[in-house]
Amino acid sequence: MNIFRIDQKVALITGGAGYYGKPICMALAEAGARVIIASRSADKCEEFAQFLREKGYLAKGVHLDLGNESSITKVIKSIVEQYGRIDILVNNAVSREGFKNLEDLDKKSLEDSQLINSTGLMLITKAAIGFMRRQGSGNIINIGSIQGVMGPHFPVYGDTGMTSPVNYTYDKWGMVGFTKWIANYYGKFNIRANCISPGGYGPGVAESIGENEFVANYKKLTPLGRFANDDDIKGPIVFLASEASAYVTGHNLLVDGGWTSW
Ligand SMILES: NC(=O)c1ccc[n+]([C@@H]2O[C@H](COP(=O)([O-])OP(=O)(O)OC[C@H]3O[C@@H](n4cnc5c(N)ncnc54)[C@H](OP(=O)(O)O)[C@@H]3O)[C@@H](O)[C@H]2O)c1
Repeated sequence: MNIFRIDQKVALITGGAGYYGKPICMALAEAGARVIIASRSADKCEEFAQFLREKGYLAKGVHLDLGNESSITKVIKSIVEQYGRIDILVNNAVSREGFKNLEDLDKKSLEDSQLINSTGLMLITKAAIGFMRRQGSGNIINIGSIQGVMGPHFPVYGDTGMTSPVNYTYDKWGMVGFTKWIANYYGKFNIRANCISPGGYGPGVAESIGENEFVANYKKLTPLGRFANDDDIKGPIVFLASEASAYVTGHNLLVDGGWTSW
């Protein structure tokens, strides 16, 4: 099963110290990659990198602000300077700034969310792909959501007052299209692009909410009857990051316990 190994591959994970970010980094590190964990809270990223290093893995935390183009350029450039290459970019970060229902949206809230979830996403991918083209290979993995393959299921929230913001649906559908654009355009340069669309994350989301109507409904409407746990994203991310998926590009892999299969 050596095709699942990614030894010494250089992998940048945006938002890598967040809920889904941590198991993504852990999986890539366990599979052998040199993991660079990046977000605005450099301390949090470095703290998690330290945790991984203590387990014997290769990891480093760096500052990255996806809302700032020079920060993006600096991070990519410094990775290439230090490691001589960048093999895998996992676009996992999300900003929830400005997430609202349509009637509550104003220009500022739209711009706040687009700046990170659309502009930042494209600029960091562009910066990484510039180097990937020169090195003759690359792998982009975008972390989407069930909200990027279907419309929100509003009844699931019951009377909790919770909702799914309109800009999240827009961003995540866009991400799937963006993934396919990269796959189709850069295939000839030996660069692959795929998306993972996960369902609700248990340890981060469901557990912090507690047992409310939404949590109960979500479990009921998920064929596997539960939220995602820490391990659920690990296999899919290693599959897409490794040669095990060498002929897979432009794909959107649903990791949602069946939520979207009804
Ligand atoms: N949680 C879920 O149930 C769920 C379900 C389906 C899909 N997803 C997807 O999974 C991915 C991760 O979500 P999550 O819930 O795990 O997120 P999270 O824990 O809230 O983490 C979001 C990450 O994004 C980083 N970030 C935000 N703004 C940034 C900026 N300007 N520059 C750089 N980094 C920034 C944050 O770090 P800093 O604040 O330090 O910058 C944080 O590490 C997202 O793409 C999300 O859409 C999540």
